[in-house]
Amino acid sequence: MKVKNFLKSRLPKELQNRLRENRRFVRNLARSVKAFFKPSRINEDWSRWYKKDFLGPERCFGELKTSIPSHVKNVIDFGCAAGRNLSAFNGEYNLYGVDIVDKANIEWRMQFQSLTYIQSPLQDLAIEEPLDDFLCISHGCIMYLNKNQQREFMQYLVDKGCRNFIFQEYDRRTLHLNAYSEKGPKVGYPFENFLNLRKQWFREDLPTWIRLEGRP
Ligand SMILES: C[S@@+](CC[C@H](N)C(=O)[O-])C[C@H]1O[C@@H](n2cnc3c(N)ncnc32)[C@H](O)[C@@H]1O
Repeated sequence: MKVKNFLKSRLPKELQNRLRENRRFVRNLARSVKAFFKPSRINEDWSRWYKKDFLGPERCFGELKTSIPSHVKNVIDFGCAAGRNLSAFNGEYNLYGVDIVDKANIEWRMQFQSLTYIQSPLQDLAIEEPLDDFLCISHGCIMYLNKNQQREFMQYLVDKGCRNFIFQEYDRRTLHLNAYSEKGPKVGYPFENFLNLRKQWFREDLPTWIRLEGRP
C-alpha cells in the first residue's frame, strides 16, 4: 500500500488537512528520513570545487551578461562552490550563492562586494523574498537532482517569479561526456528542460540553457 493511501486510511481527517497545508515541509521531512535510511546514489567528491583557483568562470556567463534585462538586480548561483561563476557579475549585481557545503569550507574566489551565501540543498531551498528581479544561474549542479526533483525545483523558481535563467548542464545526449552517467561511478542526471529554455553552445561538450526576458 502506498504511504499516501495508508495515511489516508489511518489518520484523522483534521490531521490529514494539516499535513496537506504543510505539504512542502512534510515532503522535505519524508525526504530526509528516506535519505537517512537510503544513502544517495551521488558519490562525487566536490571538495576541489570549493578551492579558490580550481577553474576560471564559464564563458557563457561573461558573454551573456550584455543580454541581461535591466530590471535584473540580483544573481543567484545554484551550486556556487567557490563562486567562480558569480565572479563574472561582481560589483554589478547583488550576488547570492547556494550550496550544500559549510561556508567555512569554501575558499571564495575573490572578495565579493555583495554576496549572501545560503547553505541548503536545492531540494529544500526556501527563500522568503520574490525572485522576479533575479537572474538564476548554475553550472553542473542541477544535474545532481533526479527528474522529479528537477521538476519541483523549476516549479519552485517559477512560483517565486523567476523569469531569467542561464543554466549550463548536461542533457541526455551529453551526460556521458566527462564520465558523468546515470549508472557510472560519478552519477549525474540529464537536465530536463521543463521550462523550455533556449539551448545554445558555448562549449562543445556542454549545452547552455537560456531565457533572458525583459519586463512584459
Ligand atoms: C560540479 S560542482 C560545480 C560547482 C560550480 N557550479 C562551478 O561551476 O564551479 C557541483 C556543485 O554542486 C553542489 N551541489 C551538489 N548537489 C547539490 C544540491 N543538491 N544542492 C545544492 N548544491 C549541490 C556541490 O557542492 C558542488 O559545489
